[in-house]
Amino acid sequence: MTFTTDTEAQSHTTTASLAQRLKAETAGEHERMHRLMAKADVFASKERYSRFTLAQYYFQQDVEYLFQHPELAALIPDIEVRGRAQVALQDLHDLGIKPEGHELKSLDAVHPEGLGWIYVSEGSTLGAAFLFKEAQNSLGLSAGFGARNLAAYPEGRARVWKRFVQALDAADFNGSQQDAVIQGALNAFGHFGQMLEQLEQLR
Ligand code: HEM
Repeated sequence: MTFTTDTEAQSHTTTASLAQRLKAETAGEHERMHRLMAKADVFASKERYSRFTLAQYYFQQDVEYLFQHPELAALIPDIEVRGRAQVALQDLHDLGIKPEGHELKSLDAVHPEGLGWIYVSEGSTLGAAFLFKEAQNSLGLSAGFGARNLAAYPEGRARVWKRFVQALDAADFNGSQQDAVIQGALNAFGHFGQMLEQLEQLR
């Protein structure tokens, strides 16, 4: 007969991968994004959608700033296929908006917190499938005009997401590094949520 101590039993039941922890521990923030998106009613008019696209553009700039960080870039082997700042800027151009620019919010989120910011951006490409349909149906936009930032990556959303999840888990972080990544994700959600709450003020 073998006996396990309480601590051993606990460590067996609480071992979750970084990707699983991120999903579980940011689920409340994801729910909050749904509520904020519904409240912001971003497909009600081209004007509202333009402000949402500004938020997307600024958020993508925050995230892509982190791509330049060598320790983070080394964790994501296909970093060059990721990021939507350029296409969001093209969308803004289609919509007749010239962004005034914003202060980068990710300057302190280097390693490993930065991976949490990138997680929020990459995960948001999944929900963007629904938003893309709405942009097409409600506003007549497309992957070639105005809604490039919501379109799938050329390889397809699921495939690129799966590779990202593999990269998250391959990082093989210890508990406190994982905590830092989760904090980075919470900060990123917090920042995007703040922009959604103040869309009117984005320029
Ligand atoms: C109304 C708007 C949204 C809808 C309908 C939506 C929907 C979804 C769906 C269906 C998934 C896939 C869930 C799964 O595979 O279990 C997903 C994942 C995700 N979404 Fe959203 N989403 C929305 C807004 C957002 C926003 C604004 C953000 C971030 C700024 C975001 C971040 C994420 C993340 C990080 C994941 C990955 C979760 C995981 O770890 O599997 N979503 N979303």
